[in-house]
This record gives sequence, C-alpha cells and structure tokens, in this order.
Amino acid sequence: MAVRVGVNGFGTIGKRVADAVRKQPDMTLVGVTKTTPSFEARRAVERKIPLYLAGDGPRSEFEAAGVPLAGTLDDLLGSVDVIVDCTPDKVGKENAARYRDAGVRAIFQGGEKPDVAEASFSALANFDTAVGKRSVRVVSCNTTGIARAASVVVGRWGVERWEATLVRRAADPAESKRGPINGILPTLQLPSHHGPDARTIYPDLPIATMAVVVPTTLMHVHTNRLRLARPPASTAEVVAAFRATPRFRLFAPWERVDGTPQVMEFARDHGVAGDDMMENVLWEAGVRLDGADLSFFQAIHQESIVVPENVDAIRALCVPGSRAAESIRTTDQTLGLSRP
Ligand SMILES: NC(=O)c1ccc[n+]([C@@H]2O[C@H](COP(=O)([O-])OP(=O)(O)OC[C@H]3O[C@@H](n4cnc5c(N)ncnc54)[C@H](OP(=O)(O)O)[C@@H]3O)[C@@H](O)[C@H]2O)c1
Repeated sequence: MAVRVGVNGFGTIGKRVADAVRKQPDMTLVGVTKTTPSFEARRAVERKIPLYLAGDGPRSEFEAAGVPLAGTLDDLLGSVDVIVDCTPDKVGKENAARYRDAGVRAIFQGGEKPDVAEASFSALANFDTAVGKRSVRVVSCNTTGIARAASVVVGRWGVERWEATLVRRAADPAESKRGPINGILPTLQLPSHHGPDARTIYPDLPIATMAVVVPTTLMHVHTNRLRLARPPASTAEVVAAFRATPRFRLFAPWERVDGTPQVMEFARDHGVAGDDMMENVLWEAGVRLDGADLSFFQAIHQESIVVPENVDAIRALCVPGSRAAESIRTTDQTLGLSRP
C-alpha cells in the first residue's frame, strides 16, 4: 500500500517536496497546508492537491478568495502515515508534540535543532539509522552538501582534517523581505554551526567550517581542503569517485560552466525536476589532489538539494525493510537525476 504523506508548510521546500512525493510510485500525497490564501495556495488548487488550514489562519479568507479547503491540519494528520514539516525555522519544534499525539511519523527540516527528532538524516550517509524510527530531521542544504561529500571520502580514504569555507547566498530568489545585500558578511561564529551539524551525521568527522554571506540568490559554494589518511593515487581517481556517486554532477572544462549562473542555466535548459539542481555540483578542474591534501569546490542549490533526501526519509521511516540503494535509485529516476 502506498505511504500516505502530508506536507505542513507549502513554501520553498514544501512545494518541491510535495511535487517530488507525487512522482513516487509508492507514495500518495494526501494534502498540503497553508495559513493564508496566496499564489502558492493557487498552485495547490491548480495541481488538484487538497489544501488544509494550518496555524491560526482564518477560514473566511480562503472562502473570500474562492480557495477550497479540505479541512484543518488535524484532519490532515488524521489521514496520513507521515507528515513532512516544512514550516519556517523553529515552528517544527512547536509542531512536534502535535504529530506525536496524532500518532504520525514526522520529518523535520534543517532549520530545527537536532533534538527535534530521533536522528539527523542524509540518505547517502546514514539511511539505515533512520529505518524504523518515528522521526528524523533532514539536515540543512549546506550540511546535506557536506554529508554527501563525506559519504564519498570518509570510507574510501579516511579524513584526518577537513577545513571548509561556505560562501552562502544572501536570500532565496522569491524572498523580498531580505535580499542580496551590498556587502560580504562574515559569520562571526567560529566555527560556523555547519561543522557541528555535519557531526550529527558523522560523529567523528574532523571538520571545521567558516561561513560568509554574499550578494547572490543563486546557490552556495563551498571551498574544501582535506588531509586524507589513505590518499588515492591521483586527482583522476577522486574525480571518478565523485562521478560514480549518485547525487553528484561534475562539469568538465569544455562545458564552460564558470560558476553558479551557468549551473542554474544548465538546470533550466535541462528541465531537471522543475529547473532545480538537486545534485552537489563539482567542477573537474576544481578538484586537486596534492599528496595527501585534497581540495575541491562544490556548489549547492539551497532550494532543492534536500528534496530527494526528504523522499528517501519518508521511505526509511514508513516502508519496512527499505534499503538505501533501492530508495535512492527510485527517487533519482523519478526526479530525473540522471547519471552522465
Ligand atoms: N530555503 C532554503 O534555502 C532551505 C534549504 C534547506 C532547508 N530549509 C529549511 O526548510 C524549512 C522551510 O524553509 P523554507 O525556505 O521552505 O521556508 P518558506 O519558504 O518561508 O516556507 C515556509 C512556509 O510555511 C508556511 N507557514 C508559516 N507558518 C506556518 C505554520 N504555523 N504552519 C504551517 N505553515 C506555516 C508559510 O506559508 P503560509 O503562512 O503562507 O501558509 C511559508 O510559505 C526551514 O526549516 C528551513 O531552514 C530551507
């Protein structure tokens, strides 16, 4: 029987997760929530996704706008196996008890603290630890990028030291309350929270991160420098390992992808999963092994990278005996994340 899924919070992440769930052969999207009618509510109606009322939003506003409601969040919780909480930062924590009381499994996002759920989750890294649990937290976009990269290097070559600087986008494209800033803002918290967050997935990862916010809405870029315990023979071997791993896309020099504008143009050209880029993006020319020292850049599309992770998290929680490789394959095929 298909897993019955609800999405609470139909914004940047929620609408993408909802679309992805609808593409899965083993899942049914029961409905999504809105607190107010808006263009995103219209999107749900036009896609024939039942809309439920969340928060304290007035039902009358939906009636006045002619936007039909199928019920309230409690009604939605009464008809799903799992709820994917995609509400703004910290709201998920407020919702956690409600999900528990309703007896539904719950998936939270990276804007919540780790203790909101039984485990932090990133499919390539720790799918198995989530199997059979009642709640997980899909780590943030940046931490997902780090955890995926760690899944390539840690087991193969060992990591003695990893230093990363995260160059972060200032806002998402649809945000107008804050925006690209005329400046470069260092995050004056050292290390930044991303390293400790990565250790909720890889407890012993010797990573230290710093972050800086720059005036763009197109992706984050990480600069990484690692000291490997058992280095491979060549840079080519490193490139081949990333290429062979799902959810990585490497651009060759001849493709002339200079930076994030071309990456997002590539995503639009290829129509991959709603013009998004759900894979970690690496440049072949931006990977270099020098003895035991590995350097590489990677770019992370903040709006979409966690979407396949949420789909896999649903399977890990709700499909008894589910396996990482099988789930990742199904998710990637249905979302159009092809291997080159
Ligand atoms: N955007 C990113 O780059 C990104 C990347 C990875 C992870 N995340 C994480 O994903 C989560 C969601 O972020 P987001 O970027 O999708 O935020 P978002 O674009 O602001 O969307 C959240 C949506 O939740 C709705 N909402 C507000 N209060 C609610 C409530 N009490 N109950 C139900 N819905 C409510 C809002 O719509 P209405 O009030 O109009 O219904 C809003 O559209 C956060 O934890 C965030 O840290 C975000």
